[in-house]
Amino acid sequence: MKVCIIGLGYIGFPTACVVTKAGYEVLGVDTNSDIIIKLKNGGLHIINEDGLADIAREAFNEGRLRVSDKPEPADVFIIAVPTPFRQNFYRQENSLAGNDVVAEKVAATSVKDRFRGNDLPYTADLSYVERATRDLATYLSKGNLVILESTVPPGTTVNLVQTVLEEETGLVCGHDFFLAHAPERVLPGNILHELIYNDRVIGGVDSESGERAVAFYKSFVKGDVVKTDATTAELVKLMENTFRDVNIALANEFALIAEKLGVDIFHAISLANRHPRVNILKPGPGVGGHCLAVDPYFIVQVVPETARLISLAREINSTMPYHVMRLFEGIATRCAQKGKPVKKVALLGASYKANVGDERESPAIKVAHLLSEKGYPVVIHDPYIEIYNSLSLDDVVRRADVLILLTDHDIYRAQLEPHKVFNLMRQPVVLDTRGFFGQEWDAMGFEMIRLGVGKRSC
Ligand SMILES: NC(=O)c1ccc[n+]([C@@H]2O[C@H](COP(=O)([O-])OP(=O)(O)OC[C@H]3O[C@@H](n4cnc5c(N)ncnc54)[C@H](O)[C@@H]3O)[C@@H](O)[C@H]2O)c1
Repeated sequence: MKVCIIGLGYIGFPTACVVTKAGYEVLGVDTNSDIIIKLKNGGLHIINEDGLADIAREAFNEGRLRVSDKPEPADVFIIAVPTPFRQNFYRQENSLAGNDVVAEKVAATSVKDRFRGNDLPYTADLSYVERATRDLATYLSKGNLVILESTVPPGTTVNLVQTVLEEETGLVCGHDFFLAHAPERVLPGNILHELIYNDRVIGGVDSESGERAVAFYKSFVKGDVVKTDATTAELVKLMENTFRDVNIALANEFALIAEKLGVDIFHAISLANRHPRVNILKPGPGVGGHCLAVDPYFIVQVVPETARLISLAREINSTMPYHVMRLFEGIATRCAQKGKPVKKVALLGASYKANVGDERESPAIKVAHLLSEKGYPVVIHDPYIEIYNSLSLDDVVRRADVLILLTDHDIYRAQLEPHKVFNLMRQPVVLDTRGFFGQEWDAMGFEMIRLGVGKRSC
């Protein structure tokens, strides 16, 4: 059996290696010529994935994995291309106004057009999926199985991929060819392991398609492979990330409430979580990453009039950087009143979560932009992101008027000593957005402002 994998990024390339190891002949396709040239020359475009270099070398050396910029006829086609978010429609202000307008626009759009290029706000950019589908349609023949792995709004497999394939080829899905959605839920850094051992949800467009796709995944997955329909599989993937986004929004809302009530939210959460069936997450400066901060919008896009909680949670999380800004402006006003206006802000952490170097949709970067827009000189430090680690931590903190902790990297816990930072800063003022710094910082004499903490230490 020959498998053609379209898109050789974080998902497609490791999948190509794993599928090759399972005994298939594999063609990996990517439109990015740099990736193809690199792979053909024995290089690797994905780093920090344990075991990937070894499994890739083995697959290429045995001649069962090839790469190209064009698809070829195959038995199975897998689409693993990007589905970014159209950012120009992000709502950034504290307002729910606009939801009705969105709902009206969606209602006025035919179901098929909701998955094509359109001017709706909050839309997934499905142009890569559509392009890849058209590319493979040229090579589709009877008996083939097509699998969409990209994360997509519910309904995309049927309304976009099936429609395009049938229109382009004249073949009938479920009779001449078979189509399924198999969403990915791997964790970067551990992709090879998770591709094999995670459970998989496989959504067939029809029963035969589902069965064929399940049989294919069972040939290399050791977790459970569970069959459902395509739209359910699409929704399941989005629900997983939306669940977390909504729960973080709740923690963030509790933090805002605690500030108003004079309560320490971290203390309150630790007490609430003593309840055997309660597990409130940690508040912070917002939600980032290319999944959590994006996937909920894919549900809102299709049913904005119904996805009200999801929409509101997105709004709460995406406006948290503005709240950090409000806390900062309170500090800046006090500093100016004391005759020491803020001349340097040290931002610690640029990635969207601890101990990784991924700044996609990072709230820390948003805070940095907001500060710069207001004219505050900002120096950013992040040990995991090259452009932010050229200066030492000491140099970043030296002569700073305010230190803002945005990402709770473990390394900061080990390296930031209160007495040293106290001596380096021009004014000892800290804005902690992650419940990171302990009481020893207050004891050292810092003015500590903590997101979610309504009690000021001084
Ligand atoms: N990376 C993750 O951890 C992860 C996890 C779960 C789901 N996903 C989803 O999987 C999908 C792929 O994500 P990724 O991280 O692998 O993306 P990526 O950006 O790393 O890779 C996608 C690749 O597809 C290529 N491409 C684009 N259009 C193409 C076309 N028409 N033909 C051939 N190649 C084309 C690009 O050049 C790129 O190399 C997305 O929908 C993403 O949301 C990713």
